[in-house]
Amino acid sequence: MPKENTTPAGADESKCQRLYRQAKSLIPGGTQLLSKRPEMFAPDQWPAYYREAHGCEVVDLDGRRYVDMSFMGIGACLLGYNDSDVTQAVVDRVKAGSMCTLNNPEEVELAQLLLAIHPWAKKVRYARTGGEAMAMAVRIARAYTGRDIIAFCGYHGWHDWYLAANRTTQAGDDALGKHLLPGLSPNGVPRQLAGTALPFNYNNLDSLARIVEQEGSRLAAVVMETTRHSDPTPGFLEGVRELCDGAGAALVFDEITVGWRLTLGGAHLRFGVQPDIAVFAKTIGNGHPMAAIIGRSDVMDAAQGSFISSTYWTEGIGPAAALTVVHKMQRIDVPGHIAMIGTRLREGLQRIAARESVPLKLSGYPALTYFGFDHPEALALQTLLTVRMLGHGFLAGAGFYPSLAHTPRHVDRYLAVAEEVFRELGQAVRQGDVVGRIGGPIRHSGFARLT
Ligand SMILES: Cc1ncc(COP(=O)(O)O)c(C=O)c1O
Repeated sequence: MPKENTTPAGADESKCQRLYRQAKSLIPGGTQLLSKRPEMFAPDQWPAYYREAHGCEVVDLDGRRYVDMSFMGIGACLLGYNDSDVTQAVVDRVKAGSMCTLNNPEEVELAQLLLAIHPWAKKVRYARTGGEAMAMAVRIARAYTGRDIIAFCGYHGWHDWYLAANRTTQAGDDALGKHLLPGLSPNGVPRQLAGTALPFNYNNLDSLARIVEQEGSRLAAVVMETTRHSDPTPGFLEGVRELCDGAGAALVFDEITVGWRLTLGGAHLRFGVQPDIAVFAKTIGNGHPMAAIIGRSDVMDAAQGSFISSTYWTEGIGPAAALTVVHKMQRIDVPGHIAMIGTRLREGLQRIAARESVPLKLSGYPALTYFGFDHPEALALQTLLTVRMLGHGFLAGAGFYPSLAHTPRHVDRYLAVAEEVFRELGQAVRQGDVVGRIGGPIRHSGFARLT
């Protein structure tokens, strides 16, 4: 466990801050992932770079130690950082050669394993990131149906098929405003794709029915997360399935982030609704790039009627990691553990926030918890929380993605510190001086994901 970080983050010309300033002049946006920008946590104070990460503990570039009570590699590390079993499998594969002119046999073993968990599916393809796997699923669905239009709900990556939603024919429309970020520009996406990706809202069957009615025989697929923040209302997923069947469209479930956190194999197994295609990434690789697209035989075979192929989809690290992750999840009840950890944190924070009159607002599942503040200065309060938690040796943002590596002790230590920090947040709210206490700029607003 980390000792208290005596040098407040950002108080000096730390290596982290210096490097990030350089990065912004060399790398547009500073990082490769919006959610990893320090500006999304505490600008000029968040330790942008790490040297080591083990379990849920992180050492930054300046040698400061933290327990990660935030997003655990933005949801990629369900078992914890540098999980010993996964690392061993990856090191073994690297030592044996992870790239070759021939194919790696693990991808066949992994296909058998995934299909045994999902008897409704008969074929598998692989990719390495979530967004590209979703692009592949959409291509397969379009190839299978011979149609173009996609109805979608939620976030599914950055590719043209998705961002086309903001290439609306009506000026001023902001289709992704409710699904990703308001005001997102589709610059670079061909204007000709306008009208090919149409959003609907989660738990609102009518919004999908309207698209089905309007697009009828042009609808290739319905693309959605089985769930994100809460269980589907009774009949919703079944209704989506029926609408797809009626329209002859493929149903694609994106199980990349929340899926395997709720149930081994993805949340659709828990809710009992079968898609035509399901997509896995992030969680199945535990930090190593890996993605799988599984589906019905006839649908997946349409991949052969298109061109879907990439060199690095054949390397051996991803499959070796995924095999180990899935086998480990078959041995250990990871969803049960992270639900317990998430619940412990939520209950503790709620108790403390009520006592200190802090307007804390919790949402999502315990396994994928989000929190904010019901207050006009919500972003400033979040920033102040992050800054104070950094000082106590915790990475904390607007959410908590628990992992197998988190123990009740980590949570209890965090809650002990939260007593003090929330006391200050309460005072700051009452005195109206939240911003003045931050010691730097306020964090930027992030993904809305109002699905
Ligand atoms: C539901 C969902 N789909 C797709 C993606 C994109 O995955 P990646 O960032 O690996 O491209 C994400 C990432 O956050 C996601 O949460």
